[in-house]
Amino acid sequence: MDRKLDELLFALMQNMTIAVSGEKLAQDLKVSHSTISRWVEKLRGSGMEIRGELFTGYRLTRLPDVLLPQLIRPRLHTREMGRTVFHFFSVDSTNAFALRMLTHGRKVPHGAVVIAESQTAGRGRLGRSWHSEPESGLYFSLILRSRIPTPYAPLITLGAAVALHNAIERETGLDVDIKWPNDLLVGGKKVCGILAEMQADFDRVSALIIGIGLNVNHAALPAELADRATSLRIASGRMQSRIECLMAFLEDLESVLSHFEQSGPSAIIEPWTRHSSFAAGRHLRVNDGFRMIEGMTRGLNASGAIRIETADGAIEEVYSGDVVYWS
Ligand code: BTN
Repeated sequence: MDRKLDELLFALMQNMTIAVSGEKLAQDLKVSHSTISRWVEKLRGSGMEIRGELFTGYRLTRLPDVLLPQLIRPRLHTREMGRTVFHFFSVDSTNAFALRMLTHGRKVPHGAVVIAESQTAGRGRLGRSWHSEPESGLYFSLILRSRIPTPYAPLITLGAAVALHNAIERETGLDVDIKWPNDLLVGGKKVCGILAEMQADFDRVSALIIGIGLNVNHAALPAELADRATSLRIASGRMQSRIECLMAFLEDLESVLSHFEQSGPSAIIEPWTRHSSFAAGRHLRVNDGFRMIEGMTRGLNASGAIRIETADGAIEEVYSGDVVYWS
C-alpha cells in the first residue's frame, strides 16, 4: 500500500499554485528531506508530473486523475462500503493483494476496497489476464466479510453487476446491458468484468472478494480486444470520471445489499432480470467447466443460477460458466 506516497501527493495537490519546500513537506509528513526526494521520484515513476524548483521546492504541474483515499472518503455517502481504502500506484493484482491480507489473518473491515492505478498481473475469469492500463481504468477489489451462506455467493456477485449497471448508467447516460454471469456491455461490447473469489469455511463464505475491472478512459483498446471490448470514453465520446463511477458503485451496492438483507434474493434477481437482455429468451451455449450446455435462457433461480431450457425441454441450472456463443 502506498499510504505515504498518497499523503505526499495529496499535500502537493492542495498546493498546486505554489511550490512547497521539501523542508515543509518533510516536517508535515514527519520524515527526512531525503525521504521526500525519494518519494517524489517514485511518484514521477508512476506518471505524476512534479517540477522540482530550486530554492522554492516541489510543484505539481498537472492535476493527476488519481484515486486517493483522501479524495474519496470525505465525499462518499456510505456506512460500510469503501470506508477503508487500500490504494496502490501499482500492484500485481488487487484481488491477489486482498486474498494475501485475508490469508495472513489481517483484520480487514467489511466493505474495504483495494484500488490500484495499474496492475502488473491483473487477473480475469478462467485464468485469463486483465488489461490494466494506468489512469485509464478502474481496477479494484471489494472485500465483503459478513458471513454469507455459500449458495448465496454467486447472487452477491450478480448484485455487484446490478450496482455497476446502475452506477454506469447514472454517471454516463449510456445504455448498459448485463451479460450473464457478470459482464457489463455497452453497444454489445464488454466494458466491465467481475472476478469473484472467496475464502470459505465448509458452509459459509468467510470473505468474498469482488474484483472489478472497468474500462473508463481508454482512448483505444489493444487490437486483440477491440472487436469485443470498449471503454466508457469510446462509447460516450467523452472522458468520464473514475472517482465518480467508483463512488456511485459503492453507494449503489450498499443499497442493493441492504435490500437483499431485508427482502432476500428477489432484491437482486428482480433488478438483474430487468437490466439484462440475457435473462430470458436468449439462445446460449455455455461451458460450465465440465460440459457444454445449449438452449434458451429462462430466468434466474433463487440462488442466481441461470435456467437454460435445452432442446429436449429439460431445465438446466447453471451457476457459472463461459458463454461461448449467444444470439
Ligand atoms: C473478467 O474476466 O471479466 C473479470 C475481470 C476482473 C478484473 C479485475 S481488475 C481488479 C481485480 N483484480 C484483478 O486481478 N482482477 C480484478
